[in-house]
Formats: sequence, C-alpha cells, structure tokens
Amino acid sequence: MKAGRSPVLILTILVMTMLALAACSGRPGPVGPQGEPGPQGPPGPTGATGATGARGPAGQDGASFIPAQFVGSLTCAECHQDYYDRFIASGHPWILNPVDDAAPAIAGNRAIRTLPEGLEWANVAYVVGGYNWKANFVDKAGMLVTGETAQLNFANRLLQTSEGLVPYHPGEELPYDCGACHTTGYSTQGNQDGRAGMVGTFAFPGVQCEACHGAGSLHVNDPHAFTPQVDRDRQECTSCHMTGDLVVADGFIQHTDGHYGDLFPGKHAALDCVDCHDPHAGVVAPAPPARATCGPPARAATGSSRWCRSPSTTASAWSASIATCRS
Ligand code: HEC
Ligand code: HEC
Ligand code: HEC
Ligand code: HEC
Ligand code: HEC
Repeated sequence: MKAGRSPVLILTILVMTMLALAACSGRPGPVGPQGEPGPQGPPGPTGATGATGARGPAGQDGASFIPAQFVGSLTCAECHQDYYDRFIASGHPWILNPVDDAAPAIAGNRAIRTLPEGLEWANVAYVVGGYNWKANFVDKAGMLVTGETAQLNFANRLLQTSEGLVPYHPGEELPYDCGACHTTGYSTQGNQDGRAGMVGTFAFPGVQCEACHGAGSLHVNDPHAFTPQVDRDRQECTSCHMTGDLVVADGFIQHTDGHYGDLFPGKHAALDCVDCHDPHAGVVAPAPPARATCGPPARAATGSSRWCRSPSTTASAWSASIATCRS
C-alpha cells in the first residue's frame, strides 16, 4: 500500500506545479515607476593646467589713492534741498564773504551800508561776518583792516547801542588768520588766493555743510556706499564755539563763544548743543522755523527729531520741554 500512495502524491504535486506554472504564464503587468538615481560616481582624473591669463589692472596704492574732495553746499542741495534751505538762512555759511567790487549779499536782515574810513569796495577782498552783530574787512593783500573806524557793529538791543563803526586794533597789522573757524576744508599751508596776508588755504569760504560732515565727493558719487560723518557730540561745535569768556571792550562784544561758558556748569553739562539747536537752522535771523513740540510731528515738519522748542520759549518752559525730549 505504501508503494501505491507515492505515485498519486507525485502526480498530485506535478499537477499542482503545472497549474501554478500555467497561472504564471499570463500577460506581464504594467512597468513600475522609475527608482531613485544611484549615488554619484567618483570624479574623473584632473586635466592638464591651462596657459596663464593676462595680468589684471594694478590696485590702488597708498600714494595714488584719491581722498574725498570738497564739493560745496550747492552740490549737497541737489539731494538735500530741505537741509540747504534752512542752512543758507542761518549764519554759518555767511561768516566769510568774498567781495566783487560791491557789497556782498549776505542773508539775514542786515546790509553793509558803511565802510571803514578811506576804504572802498574795490579794495576789499572779504567781509568777515556781517550776518549777526558785526563785520570786519579783509583788504586785497589779505590783511584785516585795522584802525579807529575799522569794525562795523550793527545796532544791538541787548547792549542798547546803535549801528556804527568802532575801532579794531588801531595801529596793528593783522593777517587774516581766522580760517580755522570761518572756512571749510582749511589747511594752515599756503596763502588763499595768493594773498600774502591770508594765512592758510581753504576749499570754500564760510562754514559749509562739509565743515561738519567732511569732504563729500565720494558720498555725492555713491550716496549709499559712502555715508558722511554725523557727529552729534558737543565737541564738534566747541571746536569753533570756544568755552572761553566773553571778550567785551569799548562796550562791544569783541568775540564770543556764544553762551556755552555760562550754560554748561551744572546740569546742562549733560546736553549736547544739538539737543537744543538744529545745527542747520540757526537762531539769530531771519526767524527760524518754529519747533514748538518734540517727537514725531516736529520730525515730520523739519526732518529733525531733536529740536523741541519755539525760539520764544521762556527759560522754564524751555527746560521742561528739554526734559520731555530727553525722557
Ligand atoms: C546724489 C544725491 C546726494 C547728494 C548730492 C548728497 N547726498 Fe547726502 N544722502 C543722499 C542719500 C540717498 C542719503 C541716504 C543714504 C543712506 O541712507 O544710505 C544721504 C545721506 C546723507 C546724510 C546722513 C548720513 C547718516 O548717517 O544718516 C548726510 C549727513 C548727508 N547725506 C550729507 C550730505 C552732504 C554734506 C552732501 C554734500 C557734500 C550730500 N549729502 C550730498 C544723497 C545725496
Ligand atoms: C554746524 C555743523 C553742521 C552743518 C554746517 C551742517 N550739518 Fe548736517 N548735521 C549736523 C549734525 C550735528 C547732525 C545731527 C543732528 C541731530 O542728530 O540732531 C546733522 C544731520 C544731518 C543730516 C541727517 C542725518 C541723520 O542721520 O539724521 C543730513 C542729511 C544733513 N545733516 C545734511 C546737511 C547738509 C546738506 C548741510 C548743508 C546744507 C549740512 N548738513 C550742514 C551738523 C551740521
Ligand atoms: C576758534 C574759532 C574762531 C576763530 C579762530 C575766529 N573766530 Fe570769529 N567767530 C567764531 C564763532 C564761533 C563766531 C560766532 C559767535 C557767536 O555768534 O556767538 C564768530 C563770529 C565772528 C564775527 C561776527 C559775525 C557776525 O555775523 O556777527 C566776526 C566779525 C568774527 N568772528 C571775526 C573774526 C576774526 C577777524 C578772526 C581772526 C582774527 C576770528 N573771528 C577768528 C569763531 C572763531
Ligand atoms: C539748553 C538748551 C541749549 C543748549 C544745550 C545750547 N544752546 Fe545755544 N541757544 C539756546 C537758546 C535758547 C538760544 C537763544 C535763541 C534765541 O535767541 O532765539 C541759544 C543761542 C545760541 C547762539 C546764538 C548767540 C547769539 O548770537 O545770539 C549760539 C552761537 C549758540 N546758542 C551756540 C551753542 C553751542 C555751541 C552749544 C553747545 C556747546 C549750545 N548753544 C547749547 C539754547 C541752547
Ligand atoms: C567750523 C567752525 C564752526 C563749527 C564746527 C560750528 N560753528 Fe556755529 N558758528 C561758527 C561761526 C563762525 C559762526 C558765526 C556765523 C555768522 O555770524 O555769520 C557760528 C554761528 C552759530 C550760531 C549763531 C548763528 C545762527 O545762525 O543762529 C549758532 C546757533 C551756531 N553757530 C550753532 C552751532 C552748533 C550747534 C554747532 C555744532 C553742531 C556749530 N555751531 C558748529 C562756526 C562754527
């Protein structure tokens, strides 16, 4: 019986196998999706070195580097008209005025009607000041005009004096050596305009934009790449507005530092000049733009965030408004 069962078993297995094979031999299914790409192969061998290229242009050495040049306030006005309009009405640009055979036009409410005795416009090279309270004169040799009637004082409410010529260093010979505080781009070397009496040279007469912001040619050519210096520190101002005492002689202020000396002992010492002063606007004449409030409205109106008083504010209201601004 054992021998009879095996052929049946073998037959069954054979039939099953044939059935299975028959089932597999149907038509092939659709092609599956593309698999992930394989990893990058190793790099091939390096090629031979090519021929040397042409020499590049020479770089700038220290000696041939051209530093920024002074371009003048009118150039700045092309893009900063609002700053220029305030500035040109203030005193800074008018401290040294070239003369061309006639009285120079000076901003403000003043006009120079009288010349020192014996002087004519044809002999005057510069008027020094003439914007605020006085004027001196530089002759064609570059010397300051001295004598018994050499300085013109305007009428002064504070000193209760009227307009008139007063003595200026009678009998002395004075070169114009005042350029450090009255000009822009000043150098102590040489003589301006070839006038022997003018000590040093300058790029522009008067305290122009670039006296405070530095020579501007690089900034003008590429405003975003070169930013001018902006120094809010009071030392920037006191380099010209000295901290010395008022010099009064013959009832007239000879020269002054403004009020820095009186103001700064005490708590004002914490203030910078530009906390109160818009360096572009001035306070003397003509009427400066009113800035009654601090904060965003003043900024929107004038482009500066720091000015926070009207020119006529009383002292106490003034310090209160400063306190508000500082907080
Ligand atoms: C061609 C237009 C142009 C001229 C000309 C120009 N500026 Fe500017 N100035 C600009 C622009 C634009 C900016 C703003 C730059 C920025 O924010 O990157 C600027 C910014 C300034 C600033 C602010 C810098 C700061 O730190 O925020 C000062 C100060 C300034 N200029 C002064 C001057 C002076 C001074 C002159 C003349 C010598 C001058 N500019 C001439 C376009 C000009
Ligand atoms: C007596 C110095 C002085 C002169 C002159 C001057 N500036 Fe300024 N300027 C400053 C100071 C200081 C500031 C910063 C004021 C502040 O932050 O309140 C400033 C700010 C500026 C700013 C804005 C910079 C900023 O980041 O807020 C511009 C723009 C500018 N001056 C352009 C000019 C131009 C243009 C002129 C000439 C028309 C000029 N300045 C003349 C001292 C001066
Ligand atoms: C250390 C800087 C400095 C020097 C140097 C200097 N000054 Fe001045 N000068 C000033 C300042 C700052 C003012 C403005 C003072 C003020 O308004 O409070 C001024 C104002 C004046 C004024 C009045 C301008 C006006 O419109 O009323 C005259 C004039 C003047 N100076 C003449 C001279 C003469 C002349 C010399 C040379 C012998 C000279 N200064 C040297 C800084 C200087
Ligand atoms: C606490 C506020 C305050 C501070 C800080 C200040 N000033 Fe003044 N300054 C004034 C006021 C207010 C006036 C008078 C304005 C007027 O007459 O309308 C004035 C006037 C002036 C005048 C004009 C003087 C004249 O001829 O009548 C000069 C110059 C001056 N300040 C320079 C400076 C300088 C430089 C500094 C910094 C060393 C400075 N101030 C700091 C408030 C201030
Ligand atoms: C390069 C020298 C110089 C620098 C720097 C300077 N000043 Fe003057 N400042 C003068 C001279 C000179 C006068 C006299 C101008 C005139 O009367 O024509 C003057 C006059 C003034 C006046 C009175 C005239 C006016 O227009 O109201 C004020 C206010 C003043 N400066 C404020 C400042 C402040 C604030 C700073 C600093 C941000 C400053 N100054 C930096 C030289 C300078």
